[in-house]
Amino acid sequence: MANYNISIIKGDGIGPEIVDEAIKVLNVVGKKFDINFSYNEYLMGGCAIDACGNPLPQETIDGVLASDACLFGAIGGAKWDNLPRELRPESGLLRFRKEMGVFANLRPAMVYDELVDASSLKPSVIQGVDIMVVRELIGGIYFGEPKGKDEFKGWNTMVYTVPEIERIAHVAFKLALKRGKKVCSIDKANVLDVSQLWRDTVIRIGAQYPDVELTHMYVDNAAMQLIANPRQFDVMLTGNIFGDILSDEASMLSGSIGLLPSASTGEKTAVYEPIHGSAPDIAGMGIANPIATISSASMMLRYSLNEIKAADAIDNAIKKAMKDGFRTKDLAAFGAVEVVNTSKMGDIIASNI
Ligand code: IPM
Ligand code: MG
Repeated sequence: MANYNISIIKGDGIGPEIVDEAIKVLNVVGKKFDINFSYNEYLMGGCAIDACGNPLPQETIDGVLASDACLFGAIGGAKWDNLPRELRPESGLLRFRKEMGVFANLRPAMVYDELVDASSLKPSVIQGVDIMVVRELIGGIYFGEPKGKDEFKGWNTMVYTVPEIERIAHVAFKLALKRGKKVCSIDKANVLDVSQLWRDTVIRIGAQYPDVELTHMYVDNAAMQLIANPRQFDVMLTGNIFGDILSDEASMLSGSIGLLPSASTGEKTAVYEPIHGSAPDIAGMGIANPIATISSASMMLRYSLNEIKAADAIDNAIKKAMKDGFRTKDLAAFGAVEVVNTSKMGDIIASNI
């Protein structure tokens, strides 16, 4: 029997409710495919600030690094927004990504057929969209030096080294080989030196993947193309800040932020989390959509644990729940046969497995 050590960070707001549903589904899929998960829970974000005055305790860093993979809920909330920036949950998150070495952030944007009407774009534009944004996560302008501010000016530095670009490019090309065999690299090479280096390096690495078609696009045009004709994209490869922006844009093609998972991978460990936030306004009400988190657990099985059949089983169970018309409140207006709460949605997906 395969055995995996999974670290769990439930976080703040709706984090605990949605992670519980993902664990429920993992346990069922584990039973079916003879996989044993042992879970260890750690604190991060606002709950860690409340418990020990630090959004990212050392125990969390050590525990997650020692695990096979981490399942993460969401962090943050108005309660901690007025703290100095270094103490805020977001700073803990950036430090966490860096400490974990998770340089590759995979953010899929796909459209469930049953929900084509939920998007603000026309069904004819979004039907069949299946994009994977590969965002570099621990470099670029988020971390570049020098940075700072005084009374008169503020400054940050967008910097990438060749090895940083090479390793993220490999991730994108390898993923493309398993998907639609296309990589579109997004940059601003008409203006930025760092983007010229990015483009040169991606072209050089791309030559090692003759089966993948490589194209390049300026980020402003990419923002436009995502709305005009999103089906043209398969893998979109980009740096930290462009990826931050484009992945939010891409997520809206699907119509609901409650559905999309993400993976942050590196050489040491990997972190799987929904792309949505901690939604403090609906925390504890039992109405949050757990699908993005359950889908993140599926990505964990697929990309970290290589349990492809188990991952497929979860994905199919989610699709069946959608097809059968079960909807949480956020999607009640789109083809609901029955509106269910967070825990019932978890039960339905688990029983579909
Ligand atoms: C994201 C978020 C974070 C980011 C924030 C919360 C620091 O927007 O994960 O996309 O900018 O990376
Ligand atoms: Mg973002």
